[in-house]
Amino acid sequence: MATTLFNASCSFPSIKVIDCKSYVGLRSNVSQVRVASLPVATSQRRSLVVRASSGHAKKLGRSDAECEAAVAAGDVPEAPPVPPKPVAPAGTPVIQPLNLNRRPRRNRASPTVRAAFQETDISPANFVYPLFIHEGEEDTPIGAMPGCYRLGWRHGLLQEVAKARAVGVNSIVLFPKVPEALKNPTGDEAYNDNGLVPRTIRLLKDKYPDLIIYTDVALDPYSSDGHDGIVREDGVIMNDETVHQLCKQAVSQARAGADVVSPSDMMDGRVGAIRAALDAEGFQNVSIMSYTAKYASSFYGPFREALDSNPRFGDKKTYQMNPANYREALIEAREDEAEGADILLVKPGLPYLDIIRLLRDKSPLPIAAYQVSGEYSMIKAGGVLKMIDEEKVMMESLMCLRRAGADIILTYFALQAATYLCNQKR
Ligand code: PBG
Repeated sequence: MATTLFNASCSFPSIKVIDCKSYVGLRSNVSQVRVASLPVATSQRRSLVVRASSGHAKKLGRSDAECEAAVAAGDVPEAPPVPPKPVAPAGTPVIQPLNLNRRPRRNRASPTVRAAFQETDISPANFVYPLFIHEGEEDTPIGAMPGCYRLGWRHGLLQEVAKARAVGVNSIVLFPKVPEALKNPTGDEAYNDNGLVPRTIRLLKDKYPDLIIYTDVALDPYSSDGHDGIVREDGVIMNDETVHQLCKQAVSQARAGADVVSPSDMMDGRVGAIRAALDAEGFQNVSIMSYTAKYASSFYGPFREALDSNPRFGDKKTYQMNPANYREALIEAREDEAEGADILLVKPGLPYLDIIRLLRDKSPLPIAAYQVSGEYSMIKAGGVLKMIDEEKVMMESLMCLRRAGADIILTYFALQAATYLCNQKR
């Protein structure tokens, strides 16, 4: 007898919890776990085979033959009786059962069955943790985002990253609150190699070399107009000139050690231009996560408060997408793919599940979903007011983003949700 565990790996959690001692015929002795080729013609794969132990079975009394003979002779040992049918409450109508071929509830009948047939899973490895940073030394609470802070880049940030790593979240994305005095109409602080973001990246990489750092590429935190691009006197957001600035910004972030630069500005052609700029500077290995389908959404309100980055006038509708549009996301996705994006992002998350599904089905690239500030704050507020169960709604919303097709999720809940997942017993 041999039990074959395909794709078995020692780090796989469901294998790890196997206690060999509790399985008859299996010994925890590693020498009995060995890799062997299966004698199956169609399979050339090498598989992990756990062999039954060869020693003698423990003697309990009668031999197998004696037991079988006794049963054959009608001497059947006792077992518990067939359980009685559970009683329905008085008044339950007595009816003929429906004649159903299929009763889908059978596959949901118990926690074990439900776990066996669960189609989607979620783990801390799927999370990217957005973190707000500032020049200050204290952590300043963000009024519209309970539980979120502008973190001191040398103090609070390092502690928050350590906490996140402890529960398996090793990817972060940085959002800077830039001093007013450093903002100008062309957002030049965005590519200051010694600006807040590059400085912070260098510090983080020095302390945690394996941390994956995503950056935001857009001018809004650096622009005195609060727009993602350069604003002409007539209010037009200048596309190609902005892309020029974004390339400098991305290169500056890459130089500091960023792993993934993430243009969130929605200018046309920025992915290709950034790719070329990165490559020209030797940053072939820096990835681009493109905010492919970023909608002009009111769900960003709390974020803009956090960074004090509200547009000084107008809105972002000439560059961010119309929330009424679906097919247009495909145009953006095709461009980003052709220009060399490594990851396509949809933003916001929960109200745009159809867009996540669209890109998942139409593109082979990894898909990211951004559960944005307004989504986070609504769940937090509902929880504080005891209108919803915050933890359950948090986990459900994240699972739904995964089910819709998101590989990774940018979420302010990253630490809280990963902590929850780590505390779940497997
Ligand atoms: C800026 C940017 C925004 C967000 C991420 N990057 C705001 C905006 O486009 O106005 C929003 C994130 C959130 O609301 O959580 N380019």
